[in-house]
Amino acid sequence: MAIKLPPLPFDKKSLEPHMSKETLEFHYGKHHKTYVEKTNELIKGTPYDKIKLQDIVQKSYEKDKKIFNNAAQAWNHEFFWNCLTSAQDEGPSVDLQSSFEESFGSVEDFQEQFTKKATEHFGSGWSWLVKNSDDTLAIITLSNAGTPLVKGLTPLLTCDVWEHAYYIDYRNERPKFLENYWKLVNWNFVEQNHKAATSTKRRSTTSNPKGTDILFATD
Ligand SMILES: [Fe+2]
Repeated sequence: MAIKLPPLPFDKKSLEPHMSKETLEFHYGKHHKTYVEKTNELIKGTPYDKIKLQDIVQKSYEKDKKIFNNAAQAWNHEFFWNCLTSAQDEGPSVDLQSSFEESFGSVEDFQEQFTKKATEHFGSGWSWLVKNSDDTLAIITLSNAGTPLVKGLTPLLTCDVWEHAYYIDYRNERPKFLENYWKLVNWNFVEQNHKAATSTKRRSTTSNPKGTDILFATD
């Protein structure tokens, strides 16, 4: 069961001027595509060939480094595309705003802290808004193919801070990329992840001992 390169949830031109069609042609059409192809090449004929992408990521962690790196990058990128939209709504819902206020002080404080951590992250990686098992929110950055899926944390939002995410549009200026990233954030997707994590917890899911099941579908 080969994993697939999912279609982008938006038109490649629709994120301009904040993220160009050319960036997406490389970032999605070459980088993301290569992670998917490489994962398929590596899992062929192994037990990983029979399970879905999220399970490949979790089972290969600290066991099969090459498979983990490629599969996690495939999963992270699909999640990242879903965090972006060409039709940004008004901002976080009232529920999400309250969670931001409890964990960070305000929505603006959250954005400021997320931007700071993402900007200061050394080298390639990902900045994440995650939900802890006690329902509090936190911002973490992870290097390379790092993903909350193997940390017992539920991802709500991410920003790819590999240089390939912004070099075409912003050259080496990661802060400018971050500034424009906020104009593309799909708050509805964040809200869906926030609600799903809460309802999953209410059902007392025990299938993933490292944390709650991630309801984001990747296959
Ligand atoms: Fe990327």
